[in-house]
Amino acid sequence: MFKTFIAVASCVLALASTSLSAADATAPIVIKFSHVVADDTPKGQGALLFKKLVEQRLGGQVQVEVHPNSSLFGDADELEALRKNEVQLLAPSLAKFEQYTKQLQVFDLPFLFDDLDAVNRFQKRAKGRQLLRSMESNDIVGLAYWHNGMRQFSGPRALRTPKDAAGLAFRIQPSDVIEAQFARIGATSAKIPFAETLAALQSGKVQASENTWSNLYSQKLYTVQPVITESNHGALDYMLVSNPRFWYSIPHATRTQLEAIIDEVTFAVNHAAEEQNRADRERIVATGKTQVVSLSAEERQAWREAMRPVWKQFEPNIGEDILKAAEIVNRKK
Ligand code: SIN
Repeated sequence: MFKTFIAVASCVLALASTSLSAADATAPIVIKFSHVVADDTPKGQGALLFKKLVEQRLGGQVQVEVHPNSSLFGDADELEALRKNEVQLLAPSLAKFEQYTKQLQVFDLPFLFDDLDAVNRFQKRAKGRQLLRSMESNDIVGLAYWHNGMRQFSGPRALRTPKDAAGLAFRIQPSDVIEAQFARIGATSAKIPFAETLAALQSGKVQASENTWSNLYSQKLYTVQPVITESNHGALDYMLVSNPRFWYSIPHATRTQLEAIIDEVTFAVNHAAEEQNRADRERIVATGKTQVVSLSAEERQAWREAMRPVWKQFEPNIGEDILKAAEIVNRKK
């Protein structure tokens, strides 16, 4: 009886793994890479570079299809599609994994990281690396962190102090931390998919938002936001993810080459992202359509103090060890 059960179970497992397997001996492995941003953004460029390098080095064995701008899957369904192996690579922003792990909430904590270099240091250290594996039991494996950049506030007025945000309605990513960040200062927020953000601002459903320079520019969000406050208050970075059953079914030699390509693309994306955001900031300023104001060191410090209770609120979810590891990266050593 027990032997029969084992035989049947092995058969079921074999079938399940076949349906997720990367390739039979003859057909090329197809990797669909879906994302929600434009091609001319750090993530969009990264996806195209990955496709190019795979075609150069593994042409015939692996094919990559890139689907930008929520054209295949959007925020609402992309991670479920990955778990069902309907898409094989995604790079959602770190705020979008909340349903699968609470530990990544550390990246959304407002005014925790001083700048993108601090975020980078955290991602490279042990605790940051550990988080790449935090969703494997949910059929999601992290392959790399990709930068976009730091988030800026945008809206009808300058947000020099937390009080300036009171009463505004913000479009936010689906993150309880970002929701708490705005609740803390008397603002409201609505979790709206990225693809619907411009329309939500145009229609007045929300008046304000927060995003990186490259997203504010490429989605034309700046055209409906009179003031951008250069707050650099949180990271908007990505985790390149796959379905572990798909990923580990790729023959070892091919997977090793894919991982080497991912390392190369990660290096390129992470070096280009800051420059892209700097250039998009300049492009926005040059249009003259929106005013850009920067926070002084004192104003930034006042924001950080106002936000510390949010860090405390989420510490039980994130883990004290992870939060501590993140707090010390601002020290540079
Ligand atoms: C993205 O950069 O992938 C989108 C971020 C957002 O939803 O604001």
